Amino acid sequence: MYKDFQEETNVNNTPQSTEQGATFVVVANRLPVDRIVGEDGEIDWQTAPGGLVTALEPVMRQRGGSWVGWHGAPDEEVEPFEHDGYTIEPVPLSAQEVVEYYEGFSNATLWPLYHDSVAFPEYHREWYEAYEVVNQRFAEKTAQVAAHGATVWVQDYQLQLVPRMLRELRPDLNIGFFLHIPFPPMELFDQLPWRVEMLEGLLGADLVGFQVPGGASNFLRLVRRRTEHRVDRDRAKLVGPDQHTCVARAYPISIDTQGFADLANSPEAIAEAEQLLADLGNPSKVFVGIDRLDYTKGLRQRVRAMGELFSEGTLDPHDTVFLQVATPSRERVDEYRRLRDDIDLLVGRINSEVGGVGRPPIVYLHASFPRATMAAMYRIADVMIVTPLRDGMNLVAKEYIACNPGLDGALVLSEFAGAARELRQAYMVNPYDLNGMKEVVMKAATDSTQNRRRRMRALKKQVSENTIDKWADKFLTDLDAKGDMGKDTNAG
Ligand code: F6P
Repeated sequence: MYKDFQEETNVNNTPQSTEQGATFVVVANRLPVDRIVGEDGEIDWQTAPGGLVTALEPVMRQRGGSWVGWHGAPDEEVEPFEHDGYTIEPVPLSAQEVVEYYEGFSNATLWPLYHDSVAFPEYHREWYEAYEVVNQRFAEKTAQVAAHGATVWVQDYQLQLVPRMLRELRPDLNIGFFLHIPFPPMELFDQLPWRVEMLEGLLGADLVGFQVPGGASNFLRLVRRRTEHRVDRDRAKLVGPDQHTCVARAYPISIDTQGFADLANSPEAIAEAEQLLADLGNPSKVFVGIDRLDYTKGLRQRVRAMGELFSEGTLDPHDTVFLQVATPSRERVDEYRRLRDDIDLLVGRINSEVGGVGRPPIVYLHASFPRATMAAMYRIADVMIVTPLRDGMNLVAKEYIACNPGLDGALVLSEFAGAARELRQAYMVNPYDLNGMKEVVMKAATDSTQNRRRRMRALKKQVSENTIDKWADKFLTDLDAKGDMGKDTNAG
């Protein structure tokens, strides 16, 4: 079985599973590991991509319980198994459901709509029908594995109907929901033909968490406008036979800060970082970008801005490199294919026009890497560039702060990432403003040591004080308290 960098198992030793079922259950579209069948038929398990898994894996390792999710391969039934101190409960998806529920409704309807419509959302009735069917399957599986009165934590936009479906099956459960991506304003959300169903689905939870307060207030405004339920400050009191209260608040997600720092400071990561630098020709400045290959990440704009800095001579390709990693993602969705072609073309054009024989100015890697290699990349980044057009949080920004040794690194961060609300000492950019982005990138690269250190000190303090444990504790404590979570509201 695949093991990652932290091997402690259920360190608080709380039994989260009994013969009657699990008392703590996480439900997410993906499991933390994907099942990969090689060409020779051999089965392998790999860490699943994305911030959700990075964030929740340490929570599960610490608390134990069950993780209900899809194992990443179509048309395959997989038996439950133990992994790092908790139980994996696979939910199967047919190949058709992968097309309609996952690639279609989740990633070609909701994903672009919730990210400011930076790509055009497509609406197809059969995609929504598949979404309903799959959400019902997740709800049924969860109802089977959860003990009486268990705490169930449903994750993300792929499963927004699950809270309500689950409450219908199991009213005894304590149901939380967390949205990892932005929740859009009414002006956009209203396009969705199934907007009421989506709101009612989420309202099945006792507590709905968002990355930023604006997400919670968008949601509450929509509930007030589009449903008959009564909204009072940060909560909706449901009208009808089931009169529970659903609270909506912001819980900005974070990372296992110490785990990342330890990984980056391990002898293996240090050696790998040295090797990487040598492979890059020991440049004097290293700019790094690490993203899933997604059109929300602002890659087109970033590559163009960096290309211009090289071509106009502001950056010298002989002693500067821009290392951009793009992890393959949702490769069968049209927008992602187009993006891949565009980036290949852009990088190829820049590299053929700038520089000479030898290492190109932009080293572009379209591949997934183990976490230790990512940590080595964060170590060598003098300037880390994180420029999404819209992002729920962006954990890469936080990982960089945790991993970069000393105080001399610099983070360039988009105003449109949820992380910008917390990481205020980053060098902020509007990724749509190419000249502005070029100026800020250069300021980050050439700022005085004193300024850079002052900023990095504040950033390191932020991520070491706000960890993934704190995030999970806060959410789950509020969920346990159900409606009595104090009078403060942060939905504004
Ligand atoms: O963080 C958003 C998210 O969609 C997660 O739900 C998901 O695990 C991750 O990005 C990666 O996406 P996918 O599961 O589609 O590869």
